Amino acid sequence: MSDNIATVAYLGAAILFIMSLGGLSNPETSRRGNFYGMVGMTIAVLATVFGPRVDLVIGLPWILGALAVGGAVGLYAARKVQMTQMPELVALMHSLVGLAAGFVGFASYVDTSVVYSGAEKAIHEVEIYIGILIGAVTFSGSIIAFGKLSGKIGGKPLLLPARHALNLLGLVVVIWYGVQFVSAPDVNAGMVPLAIMTVIALLFGIHMVMAIGGADMPVVVSMLNSYSGWAAAATGFMLANDLLIVTGALVGSSGAILSYIMCRAMNRNFISVIAGGFGTGGGSTPAASGEQPAGEVVAVSAVETAEMLRSAKSVVIIPGYGMAVAQAQHTVYEITKLLREKGVNVRFAIHPVAGRMPGHMNVLLAEAKVPYDIVLEMDEINDDFPDTDVSIVIGANDIVNPAAEDDPTSPIAGMPVLQVWKSKTSIVMKRSMASGYAGVDNPLFFKENNRMLFGDAKKMLDEVFVALKG
Ligand code: TAP
Repeated sequence: MSDNIATVAYLGAAILFIMSLGGLSNPETSRRGNFYGMVGMTIAVLATVFGPRVDLVIGLPWILGALAVGGAVGLYAARKVQMTQMPELVALMHSLVGLAAGFVGFASYVDTSVVYSGAEKAIHEVEIYIGILIGAVTFSGSIIAFGKLSGKIGGKPLLLPARHALNLLGLVVVIWYGVQFVSAPDVNAGMVPLAIMTVIALLFGIHMVMAIGGADMPVVVSMLNSYSGWAAAATGFMLANDLLIVTGALVGSSGAILSYIMCRAMNRNFISVIAGGFGTGGGSTPAASGEQPAGEVVAVSAVETAEMLRSAKSVVIIPGYGMAVAQAQHTVYEITKLLREKGVNVRFAIHPVAGRMPGHMNVLLAEAKVPYDIVLEMDEINDDFPDTDVSIVIGANDIVNPAAEDDPTSPIAGMPVLQVWKSKTSIVMKRSMASGYAGVDNPLFFKENNRMLFGDAKKMLDEVFVALKG
């Protein structure tokens, strides 16, 4: 393939990636967005493998071997992974991007086939240094994020006494070794500062994510997504590959925008997220000795729930992480169809951080074929709760916690939440009184107009469905 054809193919792939991001911004166009991304990536891989810079005689067996191993692992993971494990898989994938950036950085430093001199040499070395730095932070940070999200590492933030000073010291040392690296006379001399910086960057990545509390993990995953993009862009600079630079910048900036949107949704300041310390990641039962909210917990049965739904004119369904765990989305839609046939106005309210990844609930509802026009974002539906007869909360907790609005001392104070307690009746479906991801109590359960339907969401919804049909 000639240089020109490869450039045109790269341009086409870059346009497809931009169209893919555009498509992914809306549930209705997301399938198309995914498709554009797949086509773009196929073109990009083909243009690179058959492009002018790859010697197929030497390279082909290596490329095919890597494709076979990587493809098989990816295929296995995609088929095996549960929807609820998706964030940890994403975190693991980010770590691979970071690792790749690190390897490419070291390889291009020791590569003697291209000789740089003067300013070009300095620029190339700065690219290598920054590329390995971002790659190493992304790699170790993502591994810790994977550990925290999968429960292998506790969600409690590790807050070392002088952590900010330590981070600052790390930055100063990294800059100092950067100067040593660029002014090193040869590869052997440069390798020492490069290796020391890599170790510091790895430790920094671990320290940064360890200090972040469970409740801030969604922001961290999208932040690491952004880092992985910048790591890929840095790799693109090292390899002089324009498409990698463009793609990396797209991932880097979209990840940064997503982090910002999520911080806003959780009323968190980005800097304080990085500074760490919010949320335990527990999901623990509230301590008996702790101050209990006033009021009484009233449990209802599936039959009583069906009766309330049947006599309602307006129903809002709030799905949360528990719906994903129970895989109850199909039954939810069966119930929705039944109620709509009876003339009940049923709508869904989606909180931006419901579940465990951005768009988690939208994906599940789309899978169950719930029409998009009855699925509303928090801002679109929050004012409608006073006119709602029944709000039914399915395995959600933090996103409907009134303490976020009423209790300035609550760890989630200021986080915008779905105001289900303003509806005439709210019904919360969950298995116990345990707290949600942020590990904080929920006074909603004790409100006078709230009812609890205890049990696995799928099992209880099946019972509600049978009762509704009867
Ligand atoms: P949570 O606050 O985590 O509450 C989920 C509730 O579901 C739990 O209290 C649990 O109570 C219940 N549950 C679990 N399995 C169930 C089952 N099989 N049947 C019925 N109920 C079940 O979830 P949420 O309200 O969706 O809020 C999301 C939280 O996760 C936020 O704190 C958010 O910051 C965090 N987070 C979000 C993301 C993204 S990007 N969305 C990523 C990571 C973390 P029981 O144990 O009593 O059943």
